[in-house]
Amino acid sequence: MCMPSASEGSPKQGGTQQRRNVNVTQLYNEYCGKCHGTSGEGGGGGTKSLLTRDKFDQKWDKPFFDAIKKGVPDMGMDPYGETLSDPEVWALVVHLRELQYKDLRAKEPNRKAGSGPHKSTHHDYRIEEVVGGGLRTPWSIDWLSDGRMLINNRSGAMNLVEKGQIVGTVEGIPVSAEQGQGGLMEVAVHPNHKSNGWIYLTYTEPASSGSGGMTKVVRGKIQGSRWTSQQTVWQSDQKYYNRAGVHFGSKIAFDGKGHIFFSVGERGSNMGAQSLETPYGKVMRLNEDGTIPNDNPYVGTNGAEKATWSYGHRNQQGLIFDSEGNLWDTEHGPRGGDELNMIQKGANYGWPLAVWSINYNDSPFRTPWATDGKTMVQPVFRWLPSIGASGLDLMDGKAFPKWRGDLFAGGLAGNNLDRFRVSKGKLVEHEEILWGMGRIRDIRTGPDGFLYVALNGPDKIIRLVPAK
Ligand code: HEC
Repeated sequence: MCMPSASEGSPKQGGTQQRRNVNVTQLYNEYCGKCHGTSGEGGGGGTKSLLTRDKFDQKWDKPFFDAIKKGVPDMGMDPYGETLSDPEVWALVVHLRELQYKDLRAKEPNRKAGSGPHKSTHHDYRIEEVVGGGLRTPWSIDWLSDGRMLINNRSGAMNLVEKGQIVGTVEGIPVSAEQGQGGLMEVAVHPNHKSNGWIYLTYTEPASSGSGGMTKVVRGKIQGSRWTSQQTVWQSDQKYYNRAGVHFGSKIAFDGKGHIFFSVGERGSNMGAQSLETPYGKVMRLNEDGTIPNDNPYVGTNGAEKATWSYGHRNQQGLIFDSEGNLWDTEHGPRGGDELNMIQKGANYGWPLAVWSINYNDSPFRTPWATDGKTMVQPVFRWLPSIGASGLDLMDGKAFPKWRGDLFAGGLAGNNLDRFRVSKGKLVEHEEILWGMGRIRDIRTGPDGFLYVALNGPDKIIRLVPAK
């Protein structure tokens, strides 16, 4: 790192100007370690430990940022706002969160979950295995109105499950390209399946010529174990099919008013998420038959993707309506800054301009707030460090009455299951329910009211049941 230390009277580089080749860990160790300790344990210069659970909370993001930027003069800490750019100051906050997280995980091994019983604020629960084998990267689960469970494996097969046994695969579903994070993705059974028979799927469709693929939405019906009556609900122009193996989005939610909402990730395009012309990084809204509702926010905008409901997303792998009718997503940040967002019509969610993360290579990236005066919606909750936010579900079953109406979010890398109580778009309560069972890919309340979780590595379906 070629950077003068703070005490040498560094050049003024406040604001947003980016230095190249800054390594956040080195920056911290050099500037901060002598007082706060290289692990944040404190001790030097009379500092206290930064490794406390209460200061891990998101309400401490801004105070931490301000302390670094403006200093804590009466306690002997100099301001760094003249020496470091805002993205560098923010990167130090992210670094502190990574140190805190490492310490918390090491201190709380009892939160690693076995079958239980486990305690949580409102309910004690046990964990049961539902489907133990025969799966290959289960990505999504749902139930037909006759009670059979469907499991979409990203590797391309849709399993039919009865009483915990895989009884077959559905024949004739579309061929998907298992391209990096892509493949066969969401299965969403229409809420009125019993009367209309519709089942919606998302998958990575191979490009019509050459290589590459793109998220596509279809609907069809299942007769016996055959996929029939398929219709295309949404697909993009072929020019948006690409070879990137990342960020397909692909979650589906129904509003119960005749619309389907679904997420399309930014497919590695970064700024594509900010362009209204591309389908990248959007939450889309269509009539359930795939036609464009005439009250979509950008139907009148020249050149815009007309299905767009909101934009500026990265990779939204959770999408659900809460019991008040508000739509929520979870999405992946890069290194830090996964988000829980309430989705509003026409709004910009900021990727890649307003970002809570640093780069994967440990260099500063941006700040969580936009620097160009644009209005970007802030997340209601952010995970720092990243959990690899995936499935999101509304608990609407009867088995856990005190969890009813709460949202449950899962993490891949984080191995965690979090519970959120929200009201009118605001966060009321957040609790980590469990971690350590494996990568959590999908979460759904079953017809029995239990909370089902699809795990990937080990590949299995488990469920949370009340502890008697
Ligand atoms: C000369 C010693 C010293 C240095 C160097 C220093 N700090 Fe501090 N810092 C302190 C003291 C003292 C406090 C007051 C709180 C405490 O006792 O820990 C503080 C407070 C903070 C807080 C607020 C903590 C809270 O609980 O509200 C943050 C965040 C912080 N420092 C980060 C940093 C970072 C990042 C750097 C490097 C860029 C840095 N500090 C450099 C001494 C130092």
